[in-house]
Amino acid sequence: MAKQKIIVTRRWPVDVERRLGELYDVELNRDDRPLTVAELRNALSNFDAVLPTVSDRITAEVLSAEPLRCKILGNFGVGFNHIDLAAAKARGIAVTNTPAVLTDCTADLAMTLLLMAARRAGEGERHVRSKAWTGWRPTHMMGTKVTGKTLGLIGLGRIGRAMAKRAHHGFDMPVLFHDPYPPSTEELKALGATGCGSVEEVLERSDFVSLHCPATPETRHLMNAERLGRMKRSAILINTARGDVVDEQALIQALKNRTIAAAGLDVYEFEPKVSHELLTLENVVLLPHLGSASLETRVAMGMRVVDNITAFFAGKAPGDKVA
Ligand code: DGY
Repeated sequence: MAKQKIIVTRRWPVDVERRLGELYDVELNRDDRPLTVAELRNALSNFDAVLPTVSDRITAEVLSAEPLRCKILGNFGVGFNHIDLAAAKARGIAVTNTPAVLTDCTADLAMTLLLMAARRAGEGERHVRSKAWTGWRPTHMMGTKVTGKTLGLIGLGRIGRAMAKRAHHGFDMPVLFHDPYPPSTEELKALGATGCGSVEEVLERSDFVSLHCPATPETRHLMNAERLGRMKRSAILINTARGDVVDEQALIQALKNRTIAAAGLDVYEFEPKVSHELLTLENVVLLPHLGSASLETRVAMGMRVVDNITAFFAGKAPGDKVA
């Protein structure tokens, strides 16, 4: 039987590309150049599976490709807000994602941002590299202590829980959270986590706020000017979720006017474009969407996609079907 034709839209770790080559008639993207809308439409017309990432916008326009050969979008990543699920469903295309395997690394990165923003690590590194450092002194580059402070989590899914575990067990932090679907009482106890009735309550009571909710129409600009205004002036905001959960302009104003102390960002509203003003502010740490970027995790994500499409083509339900 002829192998299914699949296309991978970006470069993937070499072990995963090799595995895909063993199983499928695969077209790889050796230049790692993002595909255009026309190329994505073409992919849907000519391949049985298209394997996209967060950098591909799989819109209704892309999904209207004719003729349609694609039967499954095997997304490399847990978030799927870049895929129009309703349009995919209407065209009878299955969609899968890669949950769980990136939980630890994303929580590690959220904690990295939290520590960097609190202890001014980005500023400090720039200071040393620019040869501006004149030596130790008692009042130099004082930051904010992390241990024992209160962490507020918006969203307590897998990654939120992994963040709570690190904060509570590693840094003695009491954890507050808001999530419409909280975990069990035993799990909350193990995480030292206390539920709040509203997002606002979390914001008002926390020294650090870390966002761990999915990007949906409901969570777009969840952190707007009003909600940023609910945070303590000394508080720090961390975003490893999705850029448009935060109103980037409102955040810039809050950072400029020091109505919050600092922020740590891994994701941006108009990614990969980062607002010029953010680039000029010292009280924000900026990373290029590195949440899941460890070799082990990226290989695990890729292998998860392989499992998902292989189950699908074998007529079984893929483990991670989202549509
Ligand atoms: C994810 O898995 O959603 C990461 O943000 C990369 O897309």
